[in-house]
Amino acid sequence: MLVTLKQVLTPAYKEQYAVGAFNINNLEIAQAIVKAAAKLKSPVILQTSEGAIDYAGMNYLKCIVAQAAKENKIPIVLHLDHGKDLNVIRQAIKNGYTSVMIDGSHLPFEENVAVTKKVVSWARLKKVSVEGELGTIGGKEDKVSAKKIQYTEPDKAREFVERTGIDALAVAIGTSHGAYKFSGSSKLDIKRLKQIKEKVNIPLVLHGASCVPDWVVRAASQYGARLGKPEGVPDDQIKEAIKYGIAKINTDTDLRLAFDAGVREVIETAPEDFDPRHILGRARELMQEVVEHRIKIFRSGGKA
Ligand code: G3H
Ligand code: 13P
Ligand code: ZN
Repeated sequence: MLVTLKQVLTPAYKEQYAVGAFNINNLEIAQAIVKAAAKLKSPVILQTSEGAIDYAGMNYLKCIVAQAAKENKIPIVLHLDHGKDLNVIRQAIKNGYTSVMIDGSHLPFEENVAVTKKVVSWARLKKVSVEGELGTIGGKEDKVSAKKIQYTEPDKAREFVERTGIDALAVAIGTSHGAYKFSGSSKLDIKRLKQIKEKVNIPLVLHGASCVPDWVVRAASQYGARLGKPEGVPDDQIKEAIKYGIAKINTDTDLRLAFDAGVREVIETAPEDFDPRHILGRARELMQEVVEHRIKIFRSGGKA
């Protein structure tokens, strides 16, 4: 069942659990996520970045999600992650996405407000939800990057939410995208999150929230991955953040690592096997395990 972001986040925010938002780039990633969510009876958000759309095409990705929503009774949101290109955002709203993110976090405050308001006005006409962002998440992905973290100011967050009318707000409290999140102290600024929660009464979003599980890093490294010293957000900090208004939690890196570990394992242990179904099938199994673990930490199981 395809639903809006607002429909899944409203109860999550009230009851203090979080809904996982997982990035998809192809069929196997989407299937792994949906299988895990269906098994645990959890609502789930499938999100496509602009990079994923460049890679796979918006219509292919949309059809994969539409089919998953048809076959499963759980609530599924189709969300545009880090929308920056207004043409892509407009296209997503027109094409059946039930939620879009307008990421104006790199812009000066007034420009961020203006562009976010514009997207909210388009989205309202189609009953599509909108996530905005204030402050910057560090790290670099394909098309999403920021050199340094600029923490979200609680008073500015209140003004931003009031003036834009968004449904959910992404906040910067110390995380960054990718597998190398913290140099030294792996800490989220929970005090700041509490202050934001006091001033803003809509669901908050945590980006850059992958936990970079040890078992996945070991599995990938065992078959040749060179990952250096990756570090994610520990599970106990995620649980703490959920207590203070975080109701949507983004995960991409953990899926990438599990995919890599699965592909490497088959290629390395069965070099005579060149069937993509075996290679990608193992990747899909490992990604499903990762998602199941995330859903348990988020406490969204049984909420579908
Ligand atoms: O927030 C970034 C996501 O991990 C998507 O990354 O732009 O490389 O697809 P991407
Ligand atoms: P990770 O890199 O921690 O998985 O974050 C993903 C994300 O925030 C997507 O928007
Ligand atoms: Zn992000």
